[in-house]
Amino acid sequence: NSRKKLVAGNWKMNGSFDSNEALVLGFLPEVDDQVDVSVFCPFPYLSQVGKLLEDQRVTFGAQDVSAKPGGAYTGDVSVDMLKEFGVKQVLVGHSERRQYHAESSVAVAEKAVAAIQGGITPIVCVGETLAEREAGKVEAVIASQLDPVVERCSKFVESGTWNLVIAYEPVWAIGTGVTASPEQAQEVHAMIRARLNAMLGPEVAQNTRILYGGSVKPGNASEIFAKVDIDGGLIGGAALSSDDFSGIIRAAR
Ligand code: G3H
Repeated sequence: NSRKKLVAGNWKMNGSFDSNEALVLGFLPEVDDQVDVSVFCPFPYLSQVGKLLEDQRVTFGAQDVSAKPGGAYTGDVSVDMLKEFGVKQVLVGHSERRQYHAESSVAVAEKAVAAIQGGITPIVCVGETLAEREAGKVEAVIASQLDPVVERCSKFVESGTWNLVIAYEPVWAIGTGVTASPEQAQEVHAMIRARLNAMLGPEVAQNTRILYGGSVKPGNASEIFAKVDIDGGLIGGAALSSDDFSGIIRAAR
């Protein structure tokens, strides 16, 4: 396929001015134009990370964004504010946002709409819990998370501005050291692509990148990225080490 791999590092609520600089300077030498690389830092570090990545082939973004353009929404950050920092991508609907901030799939979809409308790429995260997997509900859960996004964003296909990445992150594999097997991940990725195909047509389905996230490390990344519907990774823990993150970028070549 023609989809370029994307290796995205989600720093979550980690970092400091010193550690951010060491991390970025540590993995930058590994970046070339064969693989897209991006990092998602906490809001207060957007300015620092933007400067560190100036003129580099790495994009950066935030870990969340408001669906609202502005107003009385204490603690929230708008798309336009992110754009002032040079942000090009934003995570929406990470399972930790769904879990700790009760974000619904409709709220996530509205954030994705706001991002695309503002010209930045949402990376929409979906994934089932272990209980849901064991109950045989993987497809139903993914559909319930994905469909509100696809329904609200289909207008961007019509206007030619569809610009969205999906990240499949099984909750049971996040930060646990247990990764989905490449086959388990591929099965869900294929299902997501089939759903995009059915709802939005083959062109969107073939051109939309679907990342895998959940305990990706340098040692398991190549076999995961080798699967036909896996277009890169959303990396948590291993994105905090420049050696590990570099190893994962190498694995995506
Ligand atoms: O956004 C990243 C994912 O939550 C994966 O985190 O690589 O630490 O399992 P992890």
